[in-house]
Amino acid sequence: MPDAPASPARGVWGSRVGFVLAAAGSAIGLGNIWRFPYVVGENGGAVFVLIYLGFVFLIGAPVMLGELALGRRTERNPVGAFAAVAPGTLWRFVGLLGVITGVGILSFYGVIAGWTFGYFLKTVSGGFNTIIAQESAAVFDDFVSNWMLSTGLLAAFLVLTALIVWRGVSRGIELMSKILMPMLFFLLAVLAFRSVTLSGAREGLEFYLAPDFSKLRAQTFPTALGQAFFSLSLGMGAMITYGSYIRKREDLVASAGIVCLFDTMIALLAGLIIFPALFHAGLDPASGVGLVFQVLPPLFATLPGGQLFGSAFFLLLTIAALTSTISLLEVPVSYLIDEWKWSRGKAVLVTTLGTALLGVPSALAFGAVGLFSSVPGANVDFLTLMNIVFGNYSLSVGSLLLAVFIGYRWGVAGAAKEIELEGVAFGLRPVWAFLIRFLCPVAVAVIIVYIVLTGNYF
Ligand code: PFF
Repeated sequence: MPDAPASPARGVWGSRVGFVLAAAGSAIGLGNIWRFPYVVGENGGAVFVLIYLGFVFLIGAPVMLGELALGRRTERNPVGAFAAVAPGTLWRFVGLLGVITGVGILSFYGVIAGWTFGYFLKTVSGGFNTIIAQESAAVFDDFVSNWMLSTGLLAAFLVLTALIVWRGVSRGIELMSKILMPMLFFLLAVLAFRSVTLSGAREGLEFYLAPDFSKLRAQTFPTALGQAFFSLSLGMGAMITYGSYIRKREDLVASAGIVCLFDTMIALLAGLIIFPALFHAGLDPASGVGLVFQVLPPLFATLPGGQLFGSAFFLLLTIAALTSTISLLEVPVSYLIDEWKWSRGKAVLVTTLGTALLGVPSALAFGAVGLFSSVPGANVDFLTLMNIVFGNYSLSVGSLLLAVFIGYRWGVAGAAKEIELEGVAFGLRPVWAFLIRFLCPVAVAVIIVYIVLTGNYF
């Protein structure tokens, strides 16, 4: 097949580095720095981290390779990709589930990204200069209960995402990822160093790194699996879409490996920052969605030059979130361009408006627990509910179906042929074939059946 994209409205990555950074940009975001520490904190610490790491490399990495191969083979959005390999079948609905999930995730992710930007503004203006850990929970509650601010920030963030997606994949996305990801990594490393040298850090490191198997719960497994898919941007076709813009000569195996490794390093670093600081300050690891917003400002306040440092951190985190929301929005947009023949501008406008509307209840009703008490076990607010339904279960179901599709419908031979194009070595092929055909579908199915049977959704 030629290097050129399938249609002029589509795009192609400018370079190998550009693609890897863009895919890493999609993977690295609030999932690593906001979501990972708080789910680790709620699920017993190190034992969760251990299971998470197993899921990333045994299930996440093979699924990522599968998504990239399917995208590059078909040069289509998720719906078109399934339909191209299995025309006239119901498989296209797996792609559609991905499109819907993209909108669902973006709607609440945009709210958290808005808070991040709000925290940047507050840090820059000196609002956190003297904050202490004991008051940071109240400060956070105060901040999120300002509904005008929350919805305004959500809207601003979605507009920013829309503008970049509207400019097109290569120009908009690559540039952002190339410069800013390395800066973020540097700041995280400095912060981790500060955090582990605080008094009381040891207790935090133990919680985070020394597994206590008595803390293992059945719920640990679905949560860790969902977190792995969420963090790696899998199960909704983001990597199918990004794969559709990769040139044929590039090495998908190396790319998937690098992205999984980078993503995991950033998440582990984030934990290294949060837990020592948290135990130092005597806060509760199970503080939920607000955890990092409570731990970080007082940590910055202890640093020399903390205001500058904290501002840079929240700004970079906002940008890391932006490179992820771009990939979330690109999924429905590429679907509308390819399948409905819409122009990029119209597709961006309509999906952004729809997402913004869906995001409003998450922005307005954060903290309003009990709003959904008719849903069994759902003693959570709207944002957390969206986070679990779309961010955990939908991605898990999507990944399961993708593994089955690649393992049995497209076939590992067909997929491997795409992966091995232009003589790329794929020594792990038998291992990958086993994981994608057996381990991924079985592990995910067992977890889903267990949840349905026990009613332990949350
Ligand atoms: N992986 C992103 C993060 O960790 O922040 C979130 C995400 C992006 C999830 C794209 C799913 C997705 F398709």
